[in-house]
Amino acid sequence: MSHLRFAHFSDPHLPLEPDKPRGWQWLSKRCLSYASWRRKRRAIHDPAITQALVSDVKRAMPEHIVVTGDIANLALPGEFQRGAAWLAGLGAGAAVSYVPGNHDALAFLPHEQGLGLWDAHMRDDDGRVMFPYCRIRGPVAFIGLNSGVPSPLGLATGRLGAAQIAGLETLLSALGQRGLCRIILLHHPVAAGAVPWRKRLADAPTLRAVLARTGAELLLHGHAHRGIYAALAGPGGLIPTLTMPSASARRHGRYPQARWQMIAVEDQGTSGWRIEACVRTLTGDPALGQRPDFAAFARYVFLLPKAAEIKVRSA
Ligand SMILES: [Fe+2]
Repeated sequence: MSHLRFAHFSDPHLPLEPDKPRGWQWLSKRCLSYASWRRKRRAIHDPAITQALVSDVKRAMPEHIVVTGDIANLALPGEFQRGAAWLAGLGAGAAVSYVPGNHDALAFLPHEQGLGLWDAHMRDDDGRVMFPYCRIRGPVAFIGLNSGVPSPLGLATGRLGAAQIAGLETLLSALGQRGLCRIILLHHPVAAGAVPWRKRLADAPTLRAVLARTGAELLLHGHAHRGIYAALAGPGGLIPTLTMPSASARRHGRYPQARWQMIAVEDQGTSGWRIEACVRTLTGDPALGQRPDFAAFARYVFLLPKAAEIKVRSA
């Protein structure tokens, strides 16, 4: 029986400095977002925390790493250049899977100056750059979706679009028939009420309808900057979804400090999938002169039927 251990974290929000919007770049949502970064976000997101988190992840030696969006803050060209170097430091393209967040798509940027610089971490197994992408590692099929779209002022919504959702449905059906553990990577949480209206995934109802037909074994999210466990309806029972807080955050207001999770997937044959998520949380706040480190925080275990078994039972 095969298995895979992989790490998941989200929303690292790497430092914006030395960038700031220039010239025409002020004529966009970046203007307000820059004010927000200067006023509060800069004091919340600390690169020393991200560095400690990445060290903790590497010490645990995962077989793969997934990051569910928001490396950037204002989607400025310099952020994509520094983000490319940071991703390369995390691991090779084949070892690290990334999906974009709303901050990576805050305002329009030509592909070659923006997301194109991170292509190596968003390629399909056959080398294509497209969404949904599919990467098979052991018994797991990672399916990457792109919900990052520029949204109007005051909103942080996401959208997949009809073509991406149709492609996902085809992919989920095929991967389920092949007996793979289907894990969806998507920045915006999908469960109803998981995030406020202004942060929602606009086509979440359509996506939930697809998942109710095809099933999936797990969804991993970011965006909320909170830890959320929720479940969606699937054809053979509930589909778990796990959302991680920001990987660079100090504890602030009602938002928790940084966390990451190690997820172990085990193929238990006709008994189905055993998925165990061990969440680790930040201890020590560098802003208070403490050394940032990580410790065990929570554990989730899911025992899930395989897609093929569900069909047999319902036949
Ligand atoms: Fe974020």
